[in-house]
Amino acid sequence: MAESILELKNLCKYFGGVVAVDHLNIMVEHGKIISIIGPNGAGKTTIFNLITGFVKPSSGNIFYDGKEINGLKPYLIAKMQIARTFQNVQIFPQMTVLENVMVGRHVMSRSGFMFSTLLPPVFRTEEKKIREDAKQCLEIVGISHFAQYTAGSLPLGTQRQLEIARALAVEPKLILFDEPASGLNTRETLNMGKLIEKIKEMKITVVLVEHDMELVMDISDKVNVVNFGRCIASGDPFEIQSDPGVIAAYLGG
Ligand SMILES: Nc1ncnc2c1ncn2[C@@H]1O[C@H](COP(=O)(O)OP(=O)(O)O)[C@@H](O)[C@H]1O
Ligand SMILES: [Mg+2]
Repeated sequence: MAESILELKNLCKYFGGVVAVDHLNIMVEHGKIISIIGPNGAGKTTIFNLITGFVKPSSGNIFYDGKEINGLKPYLIAKMQIARTFQNVQIFPQMTVLENVMVGRHVMSRSGFMFSTLLPPVFRTEEKKIREDAKQCLEIVGISHFAQYTAGSLPLGTQRQLEIARALAVEPKLILFDEPASGLNTRETLNMGKLIEKIKEMKITVVLVEHDMELVMDISDKVNVVNFGRCIASGDPFEIQSDPGVIAAYLGG
C-alpha cells in the first residue's frame, strides 16, 4: 500500500489563458479528512475534475494508491473506487431516491442498469443484491425513510445526503466532497459534519472542499489553502487559522 492514497504532483490545468491549477502539490494520507479551502475561482472544483478524469491535466501527475491515473476516463476512475459529489447537486430528479443510489451501485455490476429486468435470472439476483446494498447506503446517510420519494421533490439538505449515499454505493476508498454544506442551514451543516466523520470511521479517505470554516476546522485532519490554483499553505486547522498569509489571502481579519 502506498504511503498516501492520493498525490497531486506539479499539477497544472489551463483553460485557454486561464490558469485554473498551477503547479499544485497536495498529498492525501489514508483514512484522513483533508480539506481544500480558498476563494471562489481558486481552482478547487477543477482539482476534483482532474482527479475524477472529467478534465485532463495540462501537465503534472495524479497518483492514486501509487498508480498514475492522469488522463484516464471518468468511468475507469470510478471503477477504482473514487467517488465524488458535486457543488450543484447532480441527481436524477424524476427517479426515486432508491433508484438514484442503485444507479451508483450499478457502476460496479456486470449487467448495467436500464435493461436489468429483461435479463436472465443470474442478473436478476444481482439486481436484488444491488437494491439491498443501495438501501444500506440510504441507511448510513439517514434517509432510508425517503427511499420511495421522487428525488427532485426533496429539500436540498436531503438531496445532498442522497448524493452522498450514491457516492457510497461504489464502495469508495476515496470520496471527494465539493461544498457539501453549501445552501444548508446551521443544523443541517452540523449533521453534514457528523456524516463526514462517520464516513471517515468507515475507513474511507475524504477530501473536502468547503466554505463553511467552522465545519472545515472542526473535522479536518489537515487543511490545504489554495489561491490562484496554487497551494499557499498546508497544516492542521490550528496552524492554518494562525497563518498570516492565509488570513491575508482568505480568512480575513
Ligand atoms: N471547463 C472550464 N472551462 C473554462 N474555464 C474553466 C472551466 N472550469 C473552470 N474554469 C475556470 O477555472 C478557474 C477555477 O475555477 P473552479 O475550479 O471552478 O474554482 P473554485 O471551485 O475554486 O471556485 C476559474 O477561473 C474558472 O472560470
Ligand atoms: Mg467550486
